[in-house]
Amino acid sequence: MTQVAAPVDGLNLIGGSRRPARDGATFESRSPAHRDEVVGVFARSSSADVDDAVAAAAAAFRDWRRTPWPARGDIVLRAAQVLERRKEELARLMTREMGKVLVEARGDVQEAIDMGKFIAGEGRRAFGETVPSELRDKWAMTMRQPLGVVGIITPWNFPIAIPSWKIFPALLAGNTVVFKPAEDTPACALAFVEALREAGLPDGVVNVVFGYGEEAGEALIRHPQVRGVSFTGSVEVGRHVSEVCGAGLKRCSLELGGKNAIVVLDDADVELAVDGALWGAFGTSGQRCTASSRLVVQRGVLLPFTEQLRERAAALRVGDGLDERVQVGPVINEKQLGRIHGYTEIGVEEGARLILGGAVSAEGDHADGWFYLPTIFSDVRSGMRVAQEEIFGPTTAIMPAENADDALRIANGTSYGLSLSVYTRDVRAAFRAVEELEAGIVYVNAPTIGAEIQLPFGGIKDTGNGHREAGRVALDQFSEWKSIYIDYSGHLQRAQIDTE
Ligand code: UN1
Repeated sequence: MTQVAAPVDGLNLIGGSRRPARDGATFESRSPAHRDEVVGVFARSSSADVDDAVAAAAAAFRDWRRTPWPARGDIVLRAAQVLERRKEELARLMTREMGKVLVEARGDVQEAIDMGKFIAGEGRRAFGETVPSELRDKWAMTMRQPLGVVGIITPWNFPIAIPSWKIFPALLAGNTVVFKPAEDTPACALAFVEALREAGLPDGVVNVVFGYGEEAGEALIRHPQVRGVSFTGSVEVGRHVSEVCGAGLKRCSLELGGKNAIVVLDDADVELAVDGALWGAFGTSGQRCTASSRLVVQRGVLLPFTEQLRERAAALRVGDGLDERVQVGPVINEKQLGRIHGYTEIGVEEGARLILGGAVSAEGDHADGWFYLPTIFSDVRSGMRVAQEEIFGPTTAIMPAENADDALRIANGTSYGLSLSVYTRDVRAAFRAVEELEAGIVYVNAPTIGAEIQLPFGGIKDTGNGHREAGRVALDQFSEWKSIYIDYSGHLQRAQIDTE
């Protein structure tokens, strides 16, 4: 089944005008469920286009930084309302372009709506402090100031939600933006930015350069006028972004991988834990940084948990996400499909037991898409690569644990620290796990996915570099503190010296 929708016109957006790449290069975005379906043709930007976009953003900054916070908040709120009005249309576009099933695509758009509504309110808060001065007739206070031009580089797996986590707070804080979305989901990125334009965002405040990381992304992070970079993607690329930003003394916020685990203790409600594992491991075809890619199960419930999970995962319907009955969509592209299957081979070689899936699905309706069967390994041990490395596909690893301590140790035993969860009915075990689990996000009796935007999102260890997205702290990565002293004594007062 090939869609009839006309291909999206993917010109860059620079200073309010739509422009091709300076050298005329383009690339296509194709549907992962129907590889012949072209969703759009996009400008393939080079450093010359990034230069133009940064110049436009720098010019727009002069006025945008002076626009009152509440007025900036109003535009963000209106953009959220545009997304709300267009939710169904955008969800369908997202399913076509990225592959996630419709119900999840609606959730992705909803996450952006929530973020816009939430952070718009900060336009009337964004509190600074008024603090006592040590001297008479002197006031001391703080206020947030924007960084200037910021570079936003986003992944394909949450093609509207993640741009919203970054761009809404960046704008609210008074920055102007050059946005380089993932090359797999440029149409979704454009739709997000169009909502901002419809909401009244002035020209040049957000500029979009489509293209590849090695070309447009690299030029963006290196540009001397870019004062901050916010990046979500792999650890490998994140390390590189961090090095470049480090050398340029730029603010750099990184949201990288995960190898998240659900811990199931002997006293858990097994059926509930299976529900969670199924959703956490196979939702979005496992293509979430928060995906439940490890299931650490105490011996007492290992057998029933494994059996129930295998049976229910085998019944998941894989297919085109536009079909409302489908539960697991395609994976994003051929390269990822190969990588996911590569990990199946690694797991088998390492001696893990493949109890479900482990194969590409290319028969019938799946013939023209990138489909991988839900895959479960059991008997996985900590040292195996399938227990340590992020696969980013519908593959999960069951790891037996002897007792609660052992389970927490296994759960903590990776280089990542994004999201961990525990299933137990014992309040003491639950609180101990909350204390002991080494992650930025911890769930009790819920899977590792499902973060809400009013709380900080991010991880520890190799998952990031200490920043958080969403929540009120979202403003931190996009603002500088200014400390202000106002002396109305009329004479010189020396701090630390003329005190009483
Ligand atoms: C991601 O996987 O990059 O908590 C983000 C969740 C979603 C966000 C995931 N709200 O799974």
